[in-house]
Amino acid sequence: MDINSLTQPLQFKILYLDVVTSTNTLARERLQLAKAIEGSVIFANEQTQGRGQLNSVWESNSGKNVLCSIVLSPVFITIDQQTYLNMAICLAMLDTIKMYTPDASIKWPNDIYINKKKVAGLLLENAIQGDHIKYSIVGIGINVNQLDFVVKSATSLCMETQHNIVVDDVLQLLLKHINHRYGMLKLKQWDMINKEYHQHLLGLNEECTFKTETEEFVGVIKGVDVHGLLMVKKGDSIINYRVKEISML
Ligand code: BTN
Repeated sequence: MDINSLTQPLQFKILYLDVVTSTNTLARERLQLAKAIEGSVIFANEQTQGRGQLNSVWESNSGKNVLCSIVLSPVFITIDQQTYLNMAICLAMLDTIKMYTPDASIKWPNDIYINKKKVAGLLLENAIQGDHIKYSIVGIGINVNQLDFVVKSATSLCMETQHNIVVDDVLQLLLKHINHRYGMLKLKQWDMINKEYHQHLLGLNEECTFKTETEEFVGVIKGVDVHGLLMVKKGDSIINYRVKEISML
């Protein structure tokens, strides 16, 4: 990577669409057709098959929220460093939410919470080539003006601030913060990213109730390891869990 591409900010080109299946799916299709490059952004008012983590469905009323996918090409990140990409994007989402309300934090692995309710989620889909990331589809949903959710543990910026917010303003802020955090990644500021992620990690060093496939227990989050696994102190031992293996109650 030459010095120019290290210092150049991303040039975003936003495609505004009304109804799509999923912005992530569309971004992947456009990449395959060579119609998307680094900096391409797909924004939609509505998704008919919005996807969340672990095969969940992402709920969003038409025109109320940010639903977007950003194409990145972080070829400078190895597969062992993928967790820093996840952390950096979480920080950009948090930076954005904090412009509206200060009480936001990151819930492992990549949700943004306000007052114990989820306001934003991230679906990061990486394509690997050799031991590097070839491209990454950064799918972000931020609840902006929606006032009622099927999932009761969801909230929106409007519900938290009692103000209607211009959805495109939130998108523009998000892209600005992604540019900043992506710049940190390019400069390989792993320690800083890791430190800031942990500073805002919900439940760090606090007792929480966890649920695994086999049991419910009280433990303490000790951090997120270099592979992105959650480190939980249970009794005298620390166990590292993958996303599918544990949930915080
Ligand atoms: C999660 O928290 O489960 C992740 C949610 C990610 C939702 C966004 S909305 C835009 C993009 N397109 C999708 O289908 N999903 C992501």
